[in-house]
Amino acid sequence: MGYKVAVVGATGNVGREMLDILAERAFPADEVVALASSRSLGQEVSFGDKILKVKTLDTYDFSDTDICLMSAGGEASKEWSPRIGQQGCVVIDNSSAFRYDADVPLIVPEVNADAVVGFTKRNIIANPNCSTAQLVVALKPLHEAATIKRVVVSTYQSVSGAGKDAMDELFSQTRAVFTAGEVVTKKFTKRIAFNVIPHIDVFMEDGYTKEEWKMVAETKKMLDPKIKLTATAVRVPVFIGHAEAVNVEFERPLSPEQATEILRSAPGVLVIDKRENGGYMTPHEAAGEDATYISRIREDATVENGLNFWCVSDNLRKGAALNAVQIAEVLVNRKLLSKAKKAA
Ligand SMILES: NC(=O)c1ccc[n+]([C@@H]2O[C@H](COP(=O)([O-])OP(=O)(O)OC[C@H]3O[C@@H](n4cnc5c(N)ncnc54)[C@H](OP(=O)(O)O)[C@@H]3O)[C@@H](O)[C@H]2O)c1
Repeated sequence: MGYKVAVVGATGNVGREMLDILAERAFPADEVVALASSRSLGQEVSFGDKILKVKTLDTYDFSDTDICLMSAGGEASKEWSPRIGQQGCVVIDNSSAFRYDADVPLIVPEVNADAVVGFTKRNIIANPNCSTAQLVVALKPLHEAATIKRVVVSTYQSVSGAGKDAMDELFSQTRAVFTAGEVVTKKFTKRIAFNVIPHIDVFMEDGYTKEEWKMVAETKKMLDPKIKLTATAVRVPVFIGHAEAVNVEFERPLSPEQATEILRSAPGVLVIDKRENGGYMTPHEAAGEDATYISRIREDATVENGLNFWCVSDNLRKGAALNAVQIAEVLVNRKLLSKAKKAA
């Protein structure tokens, strides 16, 4: 028997990618429903070789839908995800609204798939922030090998992480620069074309941004609360693909060669690390791919048991849509969906 799956935010960056990934991976769905706001009613989106007409979230009845892939922003999630869960449909939520709720598992299947069983309390499972998802895929096997004490990470995050309007802003600003037109800034706080901005999400009292705080809180929740992590999150003028420069201190020694071997056999990871011109991965090459790519693995001799590496992934795929579909696959493969119906 196949399942009925709803994709909320189906006209957005992540929602469209979710539809592609459900089709690519032949997810066992008898029916896939595309939902968005009333602005998009009747708009068409593609799902494999089919075209789906977009319906409105406001009027949709979830009582016979098994899984909802929710990707319509924090406000829509806060209002809708609990209600959808109460109707017996399991919500895999892409926003940050429920990630830190003790009754909601936060899942990256390569890292903590077993924790998914906790979803029955609210029928909601949270998907992590895009920059955390790729980071923990790389950190998990290294943590198992040598126990991570501290991580220092600087991110280089593409504009698609801020939605489709942000991609349009990079495009129109770039064109304006070349044609001597007016550079209009709406979505970002400063010009993003030919620039970098050290500010993602809102500022917190301690001077960090919420994006930086999310990486700390989510790594602790999914991997190990004892890991110390500090982050600087930066937006760069790249359309798709997030990169991260990662510095890790371990309890025990781990050579670059050992780390390379471990990462080569880790699920979801591909190592591309030739110490020569072009022998590393960049966001442009990672766009459209599923893996988390690791390059530039080297010793940090300034601390005991230190390593540096470079981590790149498609933020719309592993950072959002792919991870959500992988969570749905865990629910199906472990036959957990019947528990959702009972919990509702
Ligand atoms: N982009 C990433 O890398 C990434 C990674 C992790 C998590 N996320 C999260 O995923 C979510 C979506 O991101 P995105 O990049 O896809 O944004 P986006 O491109 O701006 O798309 C937003 C989608 O949500 C829909 N929507 C907005 N308000 C709605 C409402 N009240 N009711 C129903 N649908 C509504 C929009 O529909 P209309 O077209 O009808 O307005 C559109 O389909 C956000 O919560 C974001 O934080 C994104």
